[in-house]
Amino acid sequence: MSDAIHQAVLVEDTMRLLNVHPGGTYLDGTLGGATHTEELLKRSAPGGRVLSFDVDTHALQRASERLRAYGSRWIGVEANFRALDRVAEQQGYVPVDGILLDLGFSSDQLVDVSKGLSFQQNGPLDMRLGVHANEDGLTAADIVNTWSAQDLERIIRDYGEERYAWKIAQAIIVERKLKTFATTHDLANFLRLALPTGYERGRLHPATRTFQALRIAVNDELNTLQTAIRAASQVLAPGGRLAIISFHSLEDRIVKRAFLDQEGWTPLTKRPIIASDEECRINPRARSAKLRVASWN
Ligand SMILES: C[S@@+](CC[C@H](N)C(=O)[O-])C[C@H]1O[C@@H](n2cnc3c(N)ncnc32)[C@H](O)[C@@H]1O
Repeated sequence: MSDAIHQAVLVEDTMRLLNVHPGGTYLDGTLGGATHTEELLKRSAPGGRVLSFDVDTHALQRASERLRAYGSRWIGVEANFRALDRVAEQQGYVPVDGILLDLGFSSDQLVDVSKGLSFQQNGPLDMRLGVHANEDGLTAADIVNTWSAQDLERIIRDYGEERYAWKIAQAIIVERKLKTFATTHDLANFLRLALPTGYERGRLHPATRTFQALRIAVNDELNTLQTAIRAASQVLAPGGRLAIISFHSLEDRIVKRAFLDQEGWTPLTKRPIIASDEECRINPRARSAKLRVASWN
């Protein structure tokens, strides 16, 4: 058993729509707590193989214990799924029958103070999911302390869908002349004071949208997703399938458009699959999950 606390979402629907079968070969771009990977291994037995990616070494360490029993049928690599075509080729995993991307971060990462993803706990303003999460080692602190007001406004507006983006960017520029933002609480407490007291009628912490924007920017999440969809088309066998679980509308829009607009994809989900009420009750994170699947021809 693994000690991961992350609960995977939409597992049954994902396996069904990926058409996982005995002897098949699969890539899991987002290993995390390894539940999806283990299901791929179980359902592709006997003989099936799974190559899993994660940028987070902790996820890989935990999974290697959990998946030891599967021997050489499973390989885990510390790599960004942006390069899934190159890595799959290196590992002898081309062509594959199915690819899964379950985007974003895991609950284990959210509670890992050193990652600085949550404003509930005080940690360094880092937000990289792993050291290979981006190419230049950029952290959230770098963005907040050095980017121009225009660039701050752009990411907070576009990635955070925050209507006070301009106000926040201006306030940060003034504040950072006096002090450096070093921790999650430095930024979260500052945002609470900088935004109107009735922010979102009290339903959302004033830091929520800005933290989402910074995480997306630090991990270059939207460009990475677009690159990965193109990379997937290079390694899928004819009729192979790509399943993507996204957690916010920016990602879902990219997946939807790619499956509709890029030649070679046939969408198998007209509308995204969402979790049942029962799953959402047990796992609140499932509430925002959307699964889309397409086949490659
Ligand atoms: C939502 S969790 C996946 C959960 C997993 N499906 C399970 O069964 O537990 C997302 C994982 O993907 C990893 N990740 C996010 N972006 C990545 C990227 N570009 N390349 C590789 N791994 C990534 C995160 O570090 C995290 O561990």
